Amino acid sequence: MNKQDLDTSQLGSIVIAIDGPAASGKTTTAKNLASALGLTYIDTGAMYRSVTLHALRRGIDVDDADAVADAARQIDIAFKNIGGENHTMLNGEDVSLDIRTPEVTRHVSKIAAYKDVRLAMVTHQIELGGRGGVVAEGRDTTTVVFPDADIKVFLTATVEERAKRRQMDMEALGIETSLQQQIEDINRRDSADSTREHSPLRKAHDAVEIDTTNLSIDEQIDRIVDLVRDKLSNQ
Ligand code: DC
Repeated sequence: MNKQDLDTSQLGSIVIAIDGPAASGKTTTAKNLASALGLTYIDTGAMYRSVTLHALRRGIDVDDADAVADAARQIDIAFKNIGGENHTMLNGEDVSLDIRTPEVTRHVSKIAAYKDVRLAMVTHQIELGGRGGVVAEGRDTTTVVFPDADIKVFLTATVEERAKRRQMDMEALGIETSLQQQIEDINRRDSADSTREHSPLRKAHDAVEIDTTNLSIDEQIDRIVDLVRDKLSNQ
């Protein structure tokens, strides 16, 4: 990574927000960027996934927005650094792997569309990022959660490339899926996430769009580090 002439002591209160559609590279980019710059990583998708996992486990009717929102307000979601890796904790339990199953993925868009679920999660995200020094990623971090973020990025990639990446992620978890199935799943989630009533996925007018289709993770991170460098030198 090209961190040369970047004065990391100036990053204390910076807020970097990264949004984009499913499997556009947000998670890996945000995670690695946060660790390289010594910032806290906020994975907002993991929070909606945790609410979904909790509802499924407890037998809460996922079509009942009020019941799901009640549960969302009651559960405790936190991030914990274990051995340099960011782990998602739900009521004190490490659920980092459980929130990535196809069953959770299938239901999460519906739950993330509920207004009161979003209100509970956004309130928590603002608390986590309150003092700055964070990299947040999701669908509405540049528009709703941190509209005044110092750096705003919108990551995109072709649906075929994103499906390939998701298939590899699934394989790493020991779950076999076809490329076609991933393309259908991504199209369905993109459509649900960008057409919903509350906080739909959209590019903020002042976000920098980066197409990651032909970029390596290091190249993606370098593009954002360049934006950070420009921002600091213009302060
Ligand atoms: O990024 P991901 O695949 O882990 O996100 C899971 C789901 O959560 C995704 O379908 C959309 C939703 N989400 C959201 O609505 N708002 C966010 N800020 C982050 C994720």
